[in-house]
Amino acid sequence: MSMLSHKSPPPPCAIVIFGANGDLTKRLIIPALYNLARTQLLPVSLSLIGVDHNKKTSEEWAAQLKDFLAQVLAKNNEEIDETLWRQVARCMTFLSGDFEKPDTYQRLKDLLAELDEKQSLGGNVLFYMAVADRFFATIAGKLGEAGLVDASAKGFRRLIVEKPFGHDLASAKALNACLLKWLKEDQIYRIDHFLGKETVQNIMALRFGNGLFEPIWNRDRIDHVQITVAESIGVETRGKFYEATGALRDMVPNHLFQLVAMTAMEPPVSFDAEDIRAKKAEMFRAIQPLGLTDVVRGQYDAGTVQDEQVAAYRREPNVAPDSNIETYVAMRLKIDNWRWAGVPFYLRTGKRLNIRSSEIAIRFKQAPYALFRDTPVEELDADWLILRIQPDEGIRLRFNAKRPGPVMTLESVSMRFNYKDYFHQAPAVGYETLIYDCLIGDATLFQRADQVEAAWGLVEPVLEGWQSTKPRHFPNYAAGSEGPSAANDLLAKDGRSWRAIRILGGK
Ligand code: BG6
Repeated sequence: MSMLSHKSPPPPCAIVIFGANGDLTKRLIIPALYNLARTQLLPVSLSLIGVDHNKKTSEEWAAQLKDFLAQVLAKNNEEIDETLWRQVARCMTFLSGDFEKPDTYQRLKDLLAELDEKQSLGGNVLFYMAVADRFFATIAGKLGEAGLVDASAKGFRRLIVEKPFGHDLASAKALNACLLKWLKEDQIYRIDHFLGKETVQNIMALRFGNGLFEPIWNRDRIDHVQITVAESIGVETRGKFYEATGALRDMVPNHLFQLVAMTAMEPPVSFDAEDIRAKKAEMFRAIQPLGLTDVVRGQYDAGTVQDEQVAAYRREPNVAPDSNIETYVAMRLKIDNWRWAGVPFYLRTGKRLNIRSSEIAIRFKQAPYALFRDTPVEELDADWLILRIQPDEGIRLRFNAKRPGPVMTLESVSMRFNYKDYFHQAPAVGYETLIYDCLIGDATLFQRADQVEAAWGLVEPVLEGWQSTKPRHFPNYAAGSEGPSAANDLLAKDGRSWRAIRILGGK
C-alpha cells in the first residue's frame, strides 16, 4: 500500500501465472492488470507467461482472455481500449505443462531467460499461483528445485499465494514450512483479498491520519465492536469446496480476522510493512482462546432472498443431503490488552442472509442518563461509528440530537461520508493494489507466516470441538433472514444485541 502520492510504474518484470486458464486469471488478474494500465501503473516492460495443463497457442490464450475482459467491461458499459489492452498483452506467452513435472519448470526457466534477454526484465519475476490450493506446495517446491525462486538471483523473485492458506493449523504450518524451504519470508505474498478493498485500507487512514479518533479508540470510550460480513449469495457452484470448508474456515481466520486486526492493532511507528505486521501479530497474540460457548454456527434452510425463492443448503449441487457444514458463524472475541480488555468484538458472517452488507460498527459507551431524568427522554441511544466496507462504502457517525421544539426530546441522527460523493472511483476489481504492491515489493497488505498460523491457532479448538459434536437443529436459519436465533442469544447473554443487517442508504 504505497503511501506515495504519485505512484510510479513498477520495474520491468515477467509475471508467470500458474492456472492461466482458470477463473481467477480471467475474472480478476487480467482485469486488474488492465486497470493498472489505465493508471500507468504497469511495468514499462512486461512479459506475461501463462502456465496451465491444456494445450493452446499464446494467441489463443490472449484472445480468450481478451474476450472475457470484454465481458467484464461490458458490465460497466465499457468497451476494451485497444491501446490499454496492448500494454497488457504485448508479450503474452502460453506454456503448456503439468504442474507436477520438472520438465515444465525447465521449459519455464528457458523461456524466462529468453524473454529477460529480449525485453531487459532485469531478472525480475513474479510467480502467481492462481491454482487450487492442493498445488501450492508442489509448485513452490518445483520452482525451488529448478532454481527459479533463488533469493540471490539477479532481480526479484516473488511468489503470490492465494487463499485458502491451509485448512487448519497443521496444514498451514506445513505449507509455510514448504514455502520457506525455498523462499525467504519477504519473497512470499499471501493474499487476503479483503485487504485489497479500499474501505479496509481506509481504516488505517481513519485511525492514524486523524487526531480525533485514536484518543477514544479504547476501552475507556468503546463498549463493544460488531463486525459483520453478510452475503446474500448461497454457495452457488462451489458446493464441493464448501462441503470441505464451511463458513468458519472460509471467512474467519482470514477476512474477518484481518478486519479485527485493522480495527484493533496498536498504531505502528511507520507504514513500513514490517512495523504494521508486527503490530498485527501482537494483536493476534492478545486474543483469548476461543471456547465453544463463544461461537455459534448455522446453516441456511430454503427461503426468500430479495424476492427470489432459494433452496436450502442441503439441496445445493454437490452438497450432502444431511450435511452438517456451517454456512453461518458468529463469535465473541476477547482481546486481552490494555486497549481492549473488557471490550468484546462480536463477529458474524453467513451466506444467504437478507442482503450483502459488510461493516465494522463501533459502539461507544452510553452517556449518563441523570441529566435527562426530568425530561420526556425515556432512554438514550448509544453513539455508533460505522465503517461501511461494502456495498455503500463510507463512514457514518450516529449520535443523539435534540428534536426542534419546546420540549426536550432526543433523536438518533447520523453524519455521513460516502466515498462516491467525494472521490472518483477508478474502475477496479479489488486486485489492483495487491498486484501493484507485489510488483513494487510492498508487503504491508499481505499476511506473514506467523499471522496466518496465529489465526488458525485461534479457530483450531472450535474446528475440533465442532467435529466431535453434531450441530443441533440444522438447518437453523431461513435463507433471507439475519441468521440463526442462537446468534442473538450470544449477545443477549452480555446484555447486547446485533445491529440490523441493512443497507445504510437512508437515515
Ligand atoms: C471468498 C470466499 O474468500 O470471499 C467466498 O471464499 C466469499 O465464499 C468471498 O463469498 C467474499 O468476498 P467479497 O469480496 O465478495 O466480499
